[in-house]
Formats: sequence, C-alpha cells, structure tokens
Amino acid sequence: MGRDDKKQGNSVARLDAGRKTPKPCTIVIFGASGDLTGRKLIPALFHLFSDGQLPEQFRVIGFARRDKTDESWRAELKAGVEEHSRPPKREAAIWEAFEKNLFYHRGDLTDAGAYQSLAERLADFEDASLRENLVFYLAISPTLFVETVDQLHAAGLLKRQNDESAPWQRLVVEKPFGQDLSSARELNEQLVKHVRERQIFRIDHYLGKETVQNIMMFRFSNALFEQLWNREAIEHVQITVSEDIGVGSRGGYFEEAGTLRDMMQNHLLQILSLVAMEPPVSLEAEAIRNEKVKLLQSIRELTLDDVARQVVRGQYFAGGSNGDTRQGYRQEERVDPESNVETYVAAQLFVDNWRWSGVPFYLRTGKNLPLRASEVRVQFRPTPNVLFARQADLQPNALTLRLQPDEGIFLRFNGKVPGNSMGIQPVRMHFGYDSEFGAYTPEAYERLLLEAMAGDATLFIRRDEVETAWQIVDGIRAGWNKTPLSNREFYAAGTWGPEAAEDLLARSGHKWHDPQPVS
Ligand code: BG6
Repeated sequence: MGRDDKKQGNSVARLDAGRKTPKPCTIVIFGASGDLTGRKLIPALFHLFSDGQLPEQFRVIGFARRDKTDESWRAELKAGVEEHSRPPKREAAIWEAFEKNLFYHRGDLTDAGAYQSLAERLADFEDASLRENLVFYLAISPTLFVETVDQLHAAGLLKRQNDESAPWQRLVVEKPFGQDLSSARELNEQLVKHVRERQIFRIDHYLGKETVQNIMMFRFSNALFEQLWNREAIEHVQITVSEDIGVGSRGGYFEEAGTLRDMMQNHLLQILSLVAMEPPVSLEAEAIRNEKVKLLQSIRELTLDDVARQVVRGQYFAGGSNGDTRQGYRQEERVDPESNVETYVAAQLFVDNWRWSGVPFYLRTGKNLPLRASEVRVQFRPTPNVLFARQADLQPNALTLRLQPDEGIFLRFNGKVPGNSMGIQPVRMHFGYDSEFGAYTPEAYERLLLEAMAGDATLFIRRDEVETAWQIVDGIRAGWNKTPLSNREFYAAGTWGPEAAEDLLARSGHKWHDPQPVS
C-alpha cells in the first residue's frame, strides 16, 4: 500500500517549523560506568553523530568513581557500541572522529573537590558554549540526585536560568523519580532550589519511542479515528506492556520498587494519557503537557474498596515449557524467599470526563509473560442487534496500536467469506512500520538526548505530571496495605498473568486480548 502511494507522489509533510535544534554543549554523564551509559546513552549519541544530527561542537564527560583514563573509557565504550548499536555496521573512521569528544572524569559524587576539578576541566574547553551550556545527565542512584545537584550548584556549575539568552544548564533525571508522592515532591523541592522547572528534564524513555510519539500524530491527523474517539463509539480500551523476561540481576532494586512503581506509575500512565487526552491547543511542550496532566487528574480516585475490586497484583512462580524453564520471583537473586512484591499489575481505571465517562481503561503489565509486546487496543462498540448481529455473535471492530516490537497499526472488521453461503469472519488491515518505512527506527534515547540538547521538554515529564501519577499509584498501594498476595494472584512464569486478572475483566463482560507474535 505504502510503496504504491509513494510512487504516486505522496510526499512527506514536514512538521519541523518552530522545532528547536540542538545547540553546542557539553553533556556530563553522572554514572558513566553504569549499564545505561554503555548500553543506551553512548550508542545513541554515536548514532546521532554518524547521522550528522549532533551540533558541530559537543563534548561528553563521563563522571564516575572507577579509575579510568579517557583512552580506557573510550575503548570500553567502543566495545559497548559494537555490541548494542544498530544498525551495527559503522565505519571505524566515524568512531574515531566521535571518540575525540569523549572524556572521563574520575570522582566521587559526594566529594566537593571532584566538582571543582570538573569545573576546571570544563574551563579548559576553548569554546564558550562548551564551557557554559551544560546538560547534566543523572544516570545514578536516586539517593544521590539531591547531593549531586547541590554539589553542582556549590561549584558554580549549575545556575538558575532567568534570562532566555543566557548560557544554560539542564538536568536530565532518570527514573525512578521518587518512591511515592511525598518523596517525589521533596525531590522536586530540592531541585527547584537551584534551577527553574524548565531546566529539569525528567525521563520516561517510553516517550522517546517512535510509536508512542505516533499516538498523538495518529489521533490528531486523522479525522476518521478522532471522530470515533469517545464513549459513544468505544466500549473499552486495553493497554498491555508485557515482558518475556524476569527481573534477572535487578532483584535488589525490584524488591524496593515492584511493578506498580517500576512500570505503571510511568510508562503505562504516560501511554494512557496520550491515548485519552484532549487535543492540545498547540504543539508546544506546555500545551501538550497541560492536556496530559488534565487527563491524569481526571482518573477516578480509587477508594480502598475500589482497589480490591479494580486492581490485581501478581507474582510469577517457576514455570515454563519445552525445556524453557524459568525460575520463580522468590528464587531470584537478592529477592526475599517470602517476598510479596508484585511482578504484575492489572487495573481497571475510569476517566471521569465528558469524552470518556463510563468507558473502562484496562492497563496491565508484567514480567515473565509469554512474549515481549506493548499494545493499545481500542475496542469499539458492537453493532445494534439486528441484521447479521441478530443471527451470529459478531466480533466488534478493534484498532490495535502496536508499540513494540513489530511496530504497526491493525484494524479489525468483519468481512464476507467468499462463496455461496453466508459466512462472516473478522479480517485485519495492517500497517507495519518496517514494511512502510524500512527497518531502522531510532532508539528512544536518541530522540530524548537530542531534545534535551535542544531544550524541548515535550517528551519529558513535568513536575505536576509526575506528582499526579504518584498520587494515583499511592492510592493503589494504600489499598494493598502490605497484605500478602492471594492464591489467585500468582502466575506461572511464561503465562499471561494471574487468574484474578481474568476475573477483573470478566466482571464487566470483557476479556483480555493477548498480543500475538506478528508473523
Ligand atoms: C524500565 C523498567 O523503565 O523499562 C524495566 O525499569 C523494564 O523494568 C523496562 O524492563 C522496559 O523497557 P522497554 O523499552 O524494554 O520496553
């Protein structure tokens, strides 16, 4: 379909007017020895560099405790890029040109001297933009966020930006942003002591994903669907983010976090807000974020009883088939053998606004499910019970936004089975990103780093947004109130979650639609 359209001259409409471009700057990565730096940040920067998307002048300084030199850090990063980069084949000469911009700075995050020497190092850069326009990327333990920011401020490296034309410093803060509403508020208070809100870029890497960005474009550039995007036409919406692996080596972190905090508070609520928000007044960051916050604020508050009825937790036990055996959560490294921490959450939420009144939104996410897939499924209302529907149980129309992998959009409708008899069968129309646009879609971190350098906060979480999301999640935690998991909340690793999650939908006459591998 797409290829023919291109032949017929369908051209790309460019929407870059007013888009900010990345400016010359230095990115200081705190946590330079960590997994995120080697696996995501540096490969992303390298891709941007090879595609000519970075500003002409840029530097990256890795700040960490281990003893390394610029050369040894570069060699380590090169190996990481070879392993994690896609598309994997890049000219050696491009890496050589790129690595000249990478520097390692050894230091302890709690040592004021390390920030002084960082300042001296920056002062050596010949270009003023590289000395003064600074992105501080906090890829460190959240317990060190405040200390690091205080130290940066004390060393004179981080200043409140009151004047748009002045040199700028920005903070990019990785998740988790707080543990609950009160800790998130406290963290926000600490950060805004030194900088303005617009200097803070809170990461949710799902917002950098191509298909997540497409949700808004799909909704607001197609009259066909937006006309139907409301309670009149839609019966319910399902958002599934499933992972096919367990917690692996992250047991220690997971015991503190659990799936509600790790996935629901951020990624799923972000997807929900994009799917359900009202059209923003413009494409400006604040206009979009205003609508997202409004949507989160419209989610009906759950009483303790509602939590018992509308939210299901789960935890995987050992399971698997055909030689693919997976261990249970309680047997994972650094996990309490009697842990009650959830590795699965499903919830029925209602958005109490004009558009969505009475429409259930089902959200679910879990570790060790049968397959890695993220999907939004919009289930339309059935036809009236006349004509064909009177004679047979017809499947209602459904639209699926497949966010990952095999990114695409499917529309299901009914069609006549060819032949003399009257048979009706659901059929699917399928748009696939790969077949339409080719295989390479940029990694989420490429887009996010670029936007942070450009100072566009659209794809980052605003203060009121993160706090509202915590409020929703805190309500759920209060409902669980440390009670142990019930028998119907355990699921075998490699299955679609606990039985209690099936009951949750069955009570409203609905059923989960499990993502399928795309052939
Ligand atoms: C992270 C969570 O934010 O998202 C992880 O901490 C999870 O637990 C990951 O595995 C999933 O991200 P993606 O991009 O692989 O869907």
